[in-house]
Amino acid sequence: MEKARERIPVVAANWKMNKTCAETVNFLSQFLYMVEDVNAQVEVLVFPPFTALRSATTFLQAEKPRKIFPEIGAQNMHWEDSGAFTGEISPLMLKELGIHHVIIGHSERRNLFKEDENSILKKVEAAIRHQMTPIICVGEKFQEREEGLTEEVVKNQLLSILQLFKKTEFTDFMIAYEPVWAIGTGVAASPEDASDVCRYIRALIGSIISPDVAAKVRILYGGSVDVKNFRDFILEPDIDGGLVGTSSLDLKKFVELVKIAGNYG
Ligand code: 13P
Repeated sequence: MEKARERIPVVAANWKMNKTCAETVNFLSQFLYMVEDVNAQVEVLVFPPFTALRSATTFLQAEKPRKIFPEIGAQNMHWEDSGAFTGEISPLMLKELGIHHVIIGHSERRNLFKEDENSILKKVEAAIRHQMTPIICVGEKFQEREEGLTEEVVKNQLLSILQLFKKTEFTDFMIAYEPVWAIGTGVAASPEDASDVCRYIRALIGSIISPDVAAKVRILYGGSVDVKNFRDFILEPDIDGGLVGTSSLDLKKFVELVKIAGNYG
């Protein structure tokens, strides 16, 4: 059944710690060439490592805009504009490069780099202050799922963030539901299970912020998305796209995912 598209689908490539500047530009230039004739409404976001951001944005500025044209985003940022924070990158530095999208609270940041709810909240606050679109990642661990705690975990991760958005006029954000056990494992959630959680998240947005915002916010699924399973995810009414790791590193697969999102593949 064809899904009515009230929200433009999103395909987002989280490259994590992969690809050099040269590889990034090479990928983007081939990508533009390969989607030249794709006449679909899809928002494509590419999140290269920090070191490749400048090359990516400079390259794209020199290209002709076309129907499918990637936006470059950052995988993380600090909440302060400047200061003694060795190794960190500020929102101002990203804005200077023309970057408006930032991933916040990815499970690898939470688990490997010990980011807590408080720092994630401060990052969301910084994104709002700088009018950047945060892609806020949430998701349960395997044990939590086994214990039936998925909704509670996701709610705890989102509560103070949604209350923060409620206090501002700025509601340009996306949520990525990424069950931790599905990331990089080749074992994706079932589209039905992912859809249940995304529907729950949308209802939470509706009850905390407003039904209008809930109807507008794009909620993505992430975790072992590939060309075989992606169509089933985006056919679910509450899943508006994918935050893709491994499969986004492969140009042909990524192009295919974009076509699938645009109902073109
Ligand atoms: P994989 O697509 O490799 O499972 O990674 C998902 C992810 O973490 C995207 O942010």
